[in-house]
Amino acid sequence: MRKIVATTSYPGEKFSNLVKDLDIEILSFDRPALKEDILRSVYGAEILIPTIVDTIDKDVIDKGCESLKLIANYGVGYNHIDVAYANSKGIIVTNTAGALTDTTADLAFSLIMSVSRRICEGDRFVREGKFKAWMPSLFLGSDVYGKTLGIIGFGRIGQTIAKRAKGFNMKVFYFSRNKVDEQIENELNAEYLEIDELLKLSDFVSLNLPLTNATYHFITYEKLKLMKKSAFIINTSRGAVINEDDLVRTLEEGVIAGAGLDVYEFEPKIHLKLLKLGGTVLLPHIGSASVETRTRMADSVVDDVRLFLSGKRPLNVVTL
Ligand code: DGY
Repeated sequence: MRKIVATTSYPGEKFSNLVKDLDIEILSFDRPALKEDILRSVYGAEILIPTIVDTIDKDVIDKGCESLKLIANYGVGYNHIDVAYANSKGIIVTNTAGALTDTTADLAFSLIMSVSRRICEGDRFVREGKFKAWMPSLFLGSDVYGKTLGIIGFGRIGQTIAKRAKGFNMKVFYFSRNKVDEQIENELNAEYLEIDELLKLSDFVSLNLPLTNATYHFITYEKLKLMKKSAFIINTSRGAVINEDDLVRTLEEGVIAGAGLDVYEFEPKIHLKLLKLGGTVLLPHIGSASVETRTRMADSVVDDVRLFLSGKRPLNVVTL
C-alpha cells in the first residue's frame, strides 16, 4: 500500500473520497502538527500533504526521502518548504495556485476599505455603547474611489486586486519583477513604476509578493518613509516581506496613516505594539478563508495527488 500522510484534515467531498479510497494517515490534533509529528509520520510516505504552517525543511525531506515523491501543499505560498532541496531529491512539490486568487483579492480589498473607512473602530465604538448621536465629524476616514493604489507583486492576486480597483475608479500602479503585457496594463488601467516612485505616489500600497530570499524585508523603514503621510499599507502575502519592527516604528511616528495586515513576521505571534496602535486592522491570516475556497484548495490538492498516483504530471507543480 502506498503511504500518504496529511498533516491535518481538509474539507470537501473530494478529500473525503480520497481518504476512503486510499489509506491516508491524517495527523489530527487540536493544533497544527509539530515538526516531530511530521518527522515521525513522513518515514515511508510517498506523498505528504502539508499546510502552509508546516515546516518542510531538509530534516523532514531527508527523513522521507527514500520513499517521498510528492509534497502536495495545501496553500499557494511555499516559503515553508525547501523546494530546491526537495527537487534535488527528485521530489515534486505542488501548490494550490489559482484556487484562492479571488478570495485573497477580496480580503485585500476589504482591508483597504476597513483601514480607510475605520470599519473595525466604528464597530467597536457601537458595541461599547458610545454611539450617542450622528455628528459631522464622527469617524471621518478617507475615500477609496478615485485614489491611487500601488500593487507590489503583480501576479495572479495582484492583478485580481487591480480588477476590483477598476470598479472604484482607482489609478493602479504596479511594481513587479517583470512588466506585464501592454494589453493587460490597459485592461487593468495599470502603470508600471519603479518601487520608490510607486511608494511615493500611492494612497494605498498592497503587498502581493511571495516570500523568498529576494523579498525578505523588501519593505523597510527607508521604503516606508517614501510613502505619503496619508497612505495605508496592506499586506496579505507574508509577514516577513515587511520588516515588522520598521513598520511599527513608522506607524508610531505617524509616517504613514495605517496598515491593514493579514500576515505577520512571526505569525501567530503579533508584535505587542501593533496591538496597541490605532489606524491598523489586524486579521488572523484569513486571506483564503471562505468555505468555497478552502474546499477548492483541497480539491486542487486531491486532483494533483490523483494525477500523480496515475503516473501523470500534477497540474500545479511549483517551479523555481
Ligand atoms: C496561502 O495559501 O499561501 C495563503 O497564505 C493561505 O491560504
